[in-house]
Amino acid sequence: MNADFPAPARLIVTGAGGLLGREILRLAPESVGLGRSELDITDRAAVDAVLTPGAVVLNCAAYTAVDAAETDRDAAFAANATGPAVLATACAAAGARLIHVSTDYVFPGTARTPYEPGDPTGPATVYGASKLAGEQAVLAAHPGAQVVRTAWVYSGVEGDFVATMRRLERERDTVTVVNDQLGSPTSAADLAAALLELSTRPDAPRVLHATNSGAATWFDLAVAVFTELGADPARVLPCDSSSFPSRTPRPSYSVLSPAAWNAAGLTPLRSWRPALTDALGRLSG
Ligand SMILES: NC(=O)c1ccc[n+]([C@@H]2O[C@H](COP(=O)([O-])OP(=O)(O)OC[C@H]3O[C@@H](n4cnc5c(N)ncnc54)[C@H](OP(=O)(O)O)[C@@H]3O)[C@@H](O)[C@H]2O)c1
Repeated sequence: MNADFPAPARLIVTGAGGLLGREILRLAPESVGLGRSELDITDRAAVDAVLTPGAVVLNCAAYTAVDAAETDRDAAFAANATGPAVLATACAAAGARLIHVSTDYVFPGTARTPYEPGDPTGPATVYGASKLAGEQAVLAAHPGAQVVRTAWVYSGVEGDFVATMRRLERERDTVTVVNDQLGSPTSAADLAAALLELSTRPDAPRVLHATNSGAATWFDLAVAVFTELGADPARVLPCDSSSFPSRTPRPSYSVLSPAAWNAAGLTPLRSWRPALTDALGRLSG
């Protein structure tokens, strides 16, 4: 955990009503949290109005509906490419820093070893393409901006995978979960702490990966959730992705290498399994 870090002078969290934004505000309540109704990141004048020199903007705003993006391309690109470009241009002009959150979906998802920040991108979805365009726009428009890719983020409430497993454990005898996609389940709390630490490190590399460490399949994660809840993990049944046909390809491999993050002297993120224990403990406490 990243327990000790000096808070930056003024932290502004965009997309503050979302999963990650809420968690950052929980850990850093002194920061300025702006939900979509308070700040639309595609609105340059509105963005200019909230920026002050020396502020650090943590951009958590995004269009994250992966399936819907396939048929809603303009909306996905507006939030994920145009918005970050506006933010980056405005931050550069105002003398503010920008930390922009991105995703493993910028990669093809077909590797078998962890993706490094400099590995070739190649999104297989509209969502991934829109996020890649956002990364590129941010890096081009702001010489000091930093991009942090993450993956498989959960807080356990409101519809993420862990929340869904908590609900299905109550509602069903058995749950069938795909066992052929590999990633690093990432606690929103751990990711939020990591981003807060990065907000004090303008010297760190411009593209970084941040997830909890280790790898698991969705089936492994579901088994772990059931175990944590005191339920019989044998009620979780494995299956292949072919059992859940989808128009949108899902990456079979989403593991992001922490090497650049760790080499920068940033606190290594812990293994996904104790992070899950803590996240679920907080919800039941
Ligand atoms: N969750 C994951 O597993 C995961 C994995 C990899 C990367 N990420 C990245 O992590 C970041 C945070 O994701 P999240 O899970 O917190 O997503 P989220 O829960 O969907 O939150 C995103 C927030 O952004 C808001 N938003 C959309 N368009 C906006 C705009 N134009 N201006 C201002 N706000 C806008 C959304 O508001 P509305 O709901 O009103 O649209 C929502 O509150 C994103 O960059 C995402 O790509 C997430």
